[in-house]
Amino acid sequence: MKLLVPAFKLSHNSMDLPNPPSGKLLQTPILIIFFLVLVNGVFSSPPADPIQCTSGNKTCTITNSYGIFNDRSICRASRVVYPTTEQELISMVATASKSKTKVKAATRYSHSIPTLACPGGQEGIIISTNKLNRVVKVDVKNRRMTVESGVLLRDLINDAAENGLALPYTPYWFGITVGGLLATGAHGSSLWQKGGAVHEYVVAMRIVTPATAKEGYAKVRNLSESDEELDAAKVSLGVLGVVSQVTLQLEPLFKRRLTYLSKNDSDLEEELLRFGKEHEFGDVTWFPAQKKAFYRVDDRVPINQTGNGLNDPFALRSTPIAQLVSSRATEELQEATRDANGKCLNAQSATRTSETSAFGLTNNGTIFTGYPVIGPNNRMQSSGSCLNGKEDALLTICPYDSRLQLLFFYETAFSIPLSKVPSFVKDVKKLLELEPQALCGLELTGGILLRYIKASSAYLGKTEDMLDFDFVYYRSKDPLAPRLFEDILEEIEQIGLFKYGGLPHWGKNRNFAFNKVINKYPNANKFLSWKRKYDPQGIFANEWTDKVLGLRGDVTILRDGCALEGLCICSEDHHCSPTSKYYCRPGKVYKQAMVCAFEG
Ligand SMILES: Cc1cc2nc3c(=O)[nH]c(=O)nc-3n(C[C@H](O)[C@H](O)[C@H](O)COP(=O)(O)OP(=O)(O)OC[C@H]3O[C@@H](n4cnc5c(N)ncnc54)[C@H](O)[C@@H]3O)c2cc1C
Ligand SMILES: *[C@@H]1O[C@H](CO)[C@@H](O)[C@H](O)[C@H]1NC(C)=O
Ligand SMILES: *[C@@H]1O[C@H](CO)[C@@H](O)[C@H](O)[C@H]1NC(C)=O
Ligand SMILES: *[C@@H]1O[C@H](CO)[C@@H](O)[C@H](O)[C@H]1NC(C)=O
Ligand SMILES: *[C@@H]1O[C@H](CO)[C@@H](O)[C@H](O)[C@H]1NC(C)=O
Ligand SMILES: *[C@@H]1O[C@H](CO)[C@@H](O)[C@H](O)[C@H]1NC(C)=O
Repeated sequence: MKLLVPAFKLSHNSMDLPNPPSGKLLQTPILIIFFLVLVNGVFSSPPADPIQCTSGNKTCTITNSYGIFNDRSICRASRVVYPTTEQELISMVATASKSKTKVKAATRYSHSIPTLACPGGQEGIIISTNKLNRVVKVDVKNRRMTVESGVLLRDLINDAAENGLALPYTPYWFGITVGGLLATGAHGSSLWQKGGAVHEYVVAMRIVTPATAKEGYAKVRNLSESDEELDAAKVSLGVLGVVSQVTLQLEPLFKRRLTYLSKNDSDLEEELLRFGKEHEFGDVTWFPAQKKAFYRVDDRVPINQTGNGLNDPFALRSTPIAQLVSSRATEELQEATRDANGKCLNAQSATRTSETSAFGLTNNGTIFTGYPVIGPNNRMQSSGSCLNGKEDALLTICPYDSRLQLLFFYETAFSIPLSKVPSFVKDVKKLLELEPQALCGLELTGGILLRYIKASSAYLGKTEDMLDFDFVYYRSKDPLAPRLFEDILEEIEQIGLFKYGGLPHWGKNRNFAFNKVINKYPNANKFLSWKRKYDPQGIFANEWTDKVLGLRGDVTILRDGCALEGLCICSEDHHCSPTSKYYCRPGKVYKQAMVCAFEG
């Protein structure tokens, strides 16, 4: 998810008010209609539980926080269990292991886009970490903190800060759990220290895995930095067992000084490398159609500097659904009428509004008075005020709320080796010269977010120092409906992933991004060997993890329109949409790419 621009188009009458007061909008008929149609007895605004069960918790379904997986499937399970202690967790894993039943850890909000959180088959067991949410130990002297795996990043950060400690580089959204974010290699942005990924700061872990009958069918593995297998367990896709506790190395709490610098993108390819080395928390948001980049000039300052700034991006705030309804309706209309110009104009005005309102930054938690914004790390690094929103019967929601699906999108995120970044950026610019309006849609959802991550010792972590590119864009409710300029975006994805060897974020992306992905990890065999030792019967594996790990078939799903959904790379016209005049064609800059191009 992108954070710079509100994750929705601002209607013109709200241009000066990124978050119009809901009171006024309440009067609008559109809201009342949606209210009646959609509320349907659900009276709370924090996100719904992604796990739903029939009475008695006997048959259950699990989806993600957006309410939709890549293939639009829903996953089933025979039941869900909620361990409250490690002892209970052990006995639940033992039950599954003894009966060779498939099992999977699931989290409070289930934010991963691919079907990572589904137990294999339909009869599996979901082990929710919802009630494994305690801080176990804060060791202020050694600056270490041990938490249960279901703890939300929000609570981890705040507890650390109360003890004068900080975890410097974390994902920008704090509604994720420690277990889930580690399993997918989640990250913030930095080339300093060990880099921007959280798993680099794990110093110990307790993980519950299957075991022999003699051992009681399940056991805890207590891993520390001297155990080689920590490199498997830190980023595990959830296939090694259920992580019970994690110990993180923290630092003394510090403050940050942040300024967004707007520049044209003429020298972006050269600037990126320099910028990442210069600023500890630097990232860049690129608006290629506007030929503009926002550089997040963000550095550490001593804790005694004055300032209590807050980073509260619009896209992660409680948002009136009327606003989301109207922006979705506008974009659907623009797609239906092929109104590229309209999208570009809206993107420009949304970007201006965001820039004027400092992208949601405030100097003291209430108002923005000017750059730099100085604030404690825990208020500047990760956000998500919509999670703390009051229950207001769905008047306001987190923008991506699964119940309303008003922000219905694809997200592609891959990391490219730093040495190849300039060539990638040049290729994107070449495509834009051919189709200057092609990427306006990306700018409506916040531009392309670029973040730094360093090479990792984790077997499924980044293989070299890299820059991560994150794209969020329109998804049609109709799986067979092509999108404006989809060929250009498909080509960019294939250039990043295949021409330059990009590594897809494990918790994001569409299926095709994971084509033969395991071959990009030189230590994959070490990971798989620990997987065989920890879980010889593969009860923690599902079809998806088997495919991405190269153990069963490939991730492609071939069917009519599959390329539109990113389930395949097209090789025949019917993978696109011949009836809408979208045909499978080679790329314009990268000839090996195959994309769905409009020939109207
Ligand atoms: C608004 C938003 C912003 C985001 N921003 C960022 C960002 O800035 N940077 C970034 O890198 N990512 C970001 N993400 C993606 C996010 O980091 C990943 O999707 C993350 O994995 C989600 O964590 P989760 O707790 O929801 O885990 P889930 O998606 O529920 O689970 C992920 C995987 O972990 C496994 N798992 C969970 N808990 C355990 C456990 N205790 N033991 C073993 N396995 C476990 C699950 O089985 C599953 O396979 C963002 C997502 C959203 C919705
Ligand atoms: C299902 O599980 C949840 C979570 O533990 C619990 O609150 C609820 O009471 C259970 N429902 C039934 C019918 O057992
Ligand atoms: C786990 O390992 C650590 C480090 O080796 C050790 O200090 C700790 O006592 C162990 N904990 C248990 C419960 O075995
Ligand atoms: C981009 O900005 C630089 C100065 O920062 C300027 O020299 C250059 O002419 C600008 N390029 C364009 C295309 O506006
Ligand atoms: C902040 O602390 C440092 C060292 O602890 C001290 O030298 C400096 O004078 C302090 N600055 C302010 C503004 O208090
Ligand atoms: C922030 O500053 C403004 C203006 O000085 C003030 O009105 C407001 O109350 C302050 N907010 C907080 C939380 O201190």
